[in-house]
Amino acid sequence: MLYTPTPDTLYHPPPHHVDPLGYSRLAIITGCSSGIGLATTQLFLAHQFQVVGLDISPFDYNLLRVEDHGRFHFHLGDLTQPGQIEQGIQIANHFGGRIDVLINVAGVLDNFASADGVTDADWDRVLATNLTVPVKMMRAVIPHLKQRPEGGVIINVASTAGKSGAVAGVAYTASKHGLIGATKNVAWRFRNEGIRANAVLPGAVDSSVGNRIAEQKKGEGGVDLEGYKAVEPVHALQAKAMETAAPITALEVAKTILFLASDQARTINGVELPVDRAWGVV
Ligand SMILES: NC(=O)c1ccc[n+]([C@@H]2O[C@H](COP(=O)([O-])OP(=O)(O)OC[C@H]3O[C@@H](n4cnc5c(N)ncnc54)[C@H](O)[C@@H]3O)[C@@H](O)[C@H]2O)c1
Repeated sequence: MLYTPTPDTLYHPPPHHVDPLGYSRLAIITGCSSGIGLATTQLFLAHQFQVVGLDISPFDYNLLRVEDHGRFHFHLGDLTQPGQIEQGIQIANHFGGRIDVLINVAGVLDNFASADGVTDADWDRVLATNLTVPVKMMRAVIPHLKQRPEGGVIINVASTAGKSGAVAGVAYTASKHGLIGATKNVAWRFRNEGIRANAVLPGAVDSSVGNRIAEQKKGEGGVDLEGYKAVEPVHALQAKAMETAAPITALEVAKTILFLASDQARTINGVELPVDRAWGVV
């Protein structure tokens, strides 16, 4: 059963209840300070997971239930910088003495620039954050996951842009395609060592990255207008579909991540799971 941890309806387990989903399990979540990472942190804490959250932006503890504070440990740092991933793992080791789940959420958007216009700085920034960091996080965590008798789980947050060439700029598209490839490689390589690795592919989510796309559509935020024009028809299709449907929330993506981390998904390994109300079929 999956519960909803929005501030009004946070799941309050009865005092005698032990949630078997997260009880005595530790999850590392990158990008925990906002959007999908924050919703995932709240949801996992509501299910009694211990959570180590890593983010370059400060974390607002007011966004957590007071009773969850003791199971949450936050590390502030830029994961693209040397030593930061190792520090996060060290904290997890001190905090829980075990790592059961890794969720790579941290990511940045590009400015829709195409291959003929992308700058070195943008390419390096987007690829470092969206692809290199998740792969290094997996490298650091896999030895710990292997030690879990009940198996370890990795969930990587990719994007519709991980399957489609027609929704983002070249850097974001390449980074998310790469992340799906890395996920599938880990799933196959470690399938007999108790590790599952899956990717979720959100469509347009109501979060800061989603809002930044909306700003960029209005010509703000340094968008490459020619690059954006090339993908605009596909975004228009998605926007049209959303006129009659509620927007996809960060919490809905978090629920999919929780499902993949749960025993209910124990035979699911190496999938690319869209969370997009069918936008990805275009
Ligand atoms: N919002 C969408 O519409 C959407 C759609 C598809 C995929 N995604 C993916 O979902 C993930 C989360 O997106 P979101 O909408 O929640 O964005 P967000 O900006 O709200 O959250 C991303 C978080 O990652 C953190 N972060 C960025 N760079 C970092 C770094 N170098 N080190 C540590 N932390 C860093 C940010 O501080 C932020 O808290 C991203 O990987 C994004 O590509 C988002």
